Amino acid sequence: MKRIAIFASGSGSNFEAIVDAYNRGELNCEPALCVCDRKGAYVIERARKLNVPVIVAHPRDFEDKAAYERFLLEKLMELDIDLICLAGYMRLIGEVLLEGYGNRIINIHPSLLPAFKGAHAIKDAFDYGVKVYGVTIHFVDETLDGGKIISQGAFPYEGTDFEELESRIHKLEHQLYPKTINKIISNL
Ligand code: GRF
Repeated sequence: MKRIAIFASGSGSNFEAIVDAYNRGELNCEPALCVCDRKGAYVIERARKLNVPVIVAHPRDFEDKAAYERFLLEKLMELDIDLICLAGYMRLIGEVLLEGYGNRIINIHPSLLPAFKGAHAIKDAFDYGVKVYGVTIHFVDETLDGGKIISQGAFPYEGTDFEELESRIHKLEHQLYPKTINKIISNL
């Protein structure tokens, strides 16, 4: 069975959704590692509860970003990781990981890319007043939320309740990410 690493910086609800899909027998690869770049992030607790090994490391603890990524690359190789899935990892992937993992790094973003790139996509789309919201999963390149699109999900929403909207988007993410990982893994 192929093995994936999930990179996250925050809450980790997508991480948990992927592991839950695996535990239900609905994922065709094993979530074998969680990488977190923020000490104290809730995803670390989730990973421990779900028995997924976690690496917590920050570029600050290394000479530079390349050294940080070399450290991660070594761990990913040691653990035979086939695919990196970014899930709320608030950092651009650098040259070392891009070279090491080529087109085997994917990301989930809570908007219909190329609209609303960046860290506040849901709020930005809401404030803009869009009528159709969605989620994108794409290959990662050196640009912010760039790279070839793999899958998208969308729904119309004309309400005014931001929290309701956010939770609908996250629900869609939690369904779409495991399915998309299955598709990518079976083509590796
Ligand atoms: C998600 O909305 C994801 O699309 C974005 O960051 C958020 C992470 O949420 N890139 P969580 O940490 O998985 O709960």
